[in-house]
Amino acid sequence: MTLATELATELAPAVDAALTTVRRNIATFGSRYPDDTTTDGRYLPRPATEEFPLGGNRGWTTSFWPGMQWLAYELTGDEDFRRAGEEHVQDFARRVAQGEDLLTHDLGFLYTLSCVAPWRLTGDTVARQAALEAADHLMVRFLEPAGILQAWGDLSDPAQRGRTIVDSLMNMPLLTWAGEQSGAERFDDAVRRHTAQLAEHVLRDDDSTFHTFYWDPVTGEALHGATEQGAGDDSCWARGQAWGIYGFALNYRATGNPALLRSAERCADYFLAHLPDDKVVYWDLVYTDGSDAPRDSSASAIAACGLHELASLQTDPAKAEKYAVAAAEMLRALVEHYTPAAEGVDSDALLLHSVYDAPKNIGVDEGSLWGDYFYLEALVRHTLPAWTRYW
Ligand code: GLY
Repeated sequence: MTLATELATELAPAVDAALTTVRRNIATFGSRYPDDTTTDGRYLPRPATEEFPLGGNRGWTTSFWPGMQWLAYELTGDEDFRRAGEEHVQDFARRVAQGEDLLTHDLGFLYTLSCVAPWRLTGDTVARQAALEAADHLMVRFLEPAGILQAWGDLSDPAQRGRTIVDSLMNMPLLTWAGEQSGAERFDDAVRRHTAQLAEHVLRDDDSTFHTFYWDPVTGEALHGATEQGAGDDSCWARGQAWGIYGFALNYRATGNPALLRSAERCADYFLAHLPDDKVVYWDLVYTDGSDAPRDSSASAIAACGLHELASLQTDPAKAEKYAVAAAEMLRALVEHYTPAAEGVDSDALLLHSVYDAPKNIGVDEGSLWGDYFYLEALVRHTLPAWTRYW
């Protein structure tokens, strides 16, 4: 057996456990959407608001749910997973057509997993059309002369104007895909300029990252970094650093800009240098072994995928081996210590102990939809060697 086959065999029980949980959650939720995180280990339906019903399709995390269903479909070929994913295509097509909750750069997360994935897997033309419409909405957020896409809120909101965040790197693949599909250069131009700005300003000299950064929307001048979900403006929010590893790697693949490959490596090396003994990071990398701060397993799941991607981009075999080994070790640490099976508990989450927003005390030490998605993607990466990424 090769090392890769041995690892796939070792991971088989974890894959089975994850699939069982996804099946159970499909039975619970039907076409509704779970909340961003579990509450005491249980996913509840997304709360109703004045505009949205209980379990409605709003916020930035709903697509991780169909994303898991498409991964499960690829792992099993089971038509139940495909049917579940296809129901969500209809709802995401409706969301973009009706203009519901679209004032965010997270259209990339939302439409890559809910619509680009099924288009790639089944040729679903409703999904393709919805993803192209979402890409057009995302492009409205491109700010000249700064050359960045604004992350959050209405473009006229003074608190958010000219601000972008490291997470945005993961939203760029929707634009790259739209450029490929449409042949329009404006998508690639936006990706090239936005990612170059992040490499220059969001990545600090010591290889850590700012969570968010402001540009002057009138002059385009780069202003200053600030946090939103980290421990402090100058600390390194763990999930942001993980988004940096994966996002810079994906955007290097898309643009060929060598600065982005170097940025992904710098993010990765900093992340790996700040791992605690059990290889699963605290929610901010300012915390180290001995701290009683919560871990963020979702950051490690994202990093496990990003490191695997980064390994595949290396021309130097020693560097490829370094990142591939780190990816496999991180996934193994999650399977062995951060899953319901490892702890002998019952939970709706695939992965335990993630943190949504510690400063606001939201979703601390719970399962999360994105933690579950990236944990399952990491399992797929090691189990289906020919898997093609959705991003
Ligand atoms: N993209 C938002 C987060 O990682 O919390």
